[in-house]
Amino acid sequence: MKIFIDSGDLNEIREAAAMGVVDGVTTNPTLVAKAGKPLSSLIAAICEIVDGPISAEVVATDCEGIVREGRALAKIHRNVVVKVPLIAEGIKAVKIFSSEGIKTNVTLCFSPTQGLLAAKAGATYISPFIGRIDDIGGDGMLLIRQLVQIYKNYDFKTEVLAASIRHPVHVVDSALAGAHVGTLPHKVILQLLEHPLTASGLDKFLADAKKIPQS
Ligand code: E4P
Repeated sequence: MKIFIDSGDLNEIREAAAMGVVDGVTTNPTLVAKAGKPLSSLIAAICEIVDGPISAEVVATDCEGIVREGRALAKIHRNVVVKVPLIAEGIKAVKIFSSEGIKTNVTLCFSPTQGLLAAKAGATYISPFIGRIDDIGGDGMLLIRQLVQIYKNYDFKTEVLAASIRHPVHVVDSALAGAHVGTLPHKVILQLLEHPLTASGLDKFLADAKKIPQS
């Protein structure tokens, strides 16, 4: 499974990228607002840090506006993926982007029927928001499994990008379900590494290493 970082914070992105395990970056208007920079300059800066797909979201909600914004975003860097909301006008725009070779990430997916239409329109990625489904008492992981299976059944090239990931169990379950990508907040990337037995085991090894005769 590819790992993207879900962040607009350049320091977080640099820190995670330095570990060598980050394949791409996703942003959304909330994350960009937190970063406090204009979208185009933020995306350009992210593209300098990570050489992989970088999702930048449009804010227009009509097809013409989405296409206009998306084309401008795609011009920032060859790695930019245009993030489009899962609405009828967005699906129309995805079809146009697909015919122009512009990559897309269809966002705010909460059902398999939405995901089916996004794939038929030629989306590069679909972003099911698993944490937000769990938040309202649903089963976010069921949606990941459904999308992976539907895309497999019909050989859709659209990749399932598990989004709204809140904790390491979401990562493990997404990987087991066959999601192509997981986009993780920086905090969750760090949590993937943590294990108390690793920490205590290392402490013991380092303490014992001091007892090793040097000559
Ligand atoms: C990803 O592309 C989404 O923007 C993000 O994962 C949403 O996560 P949240 O539900 O924690 O805001």
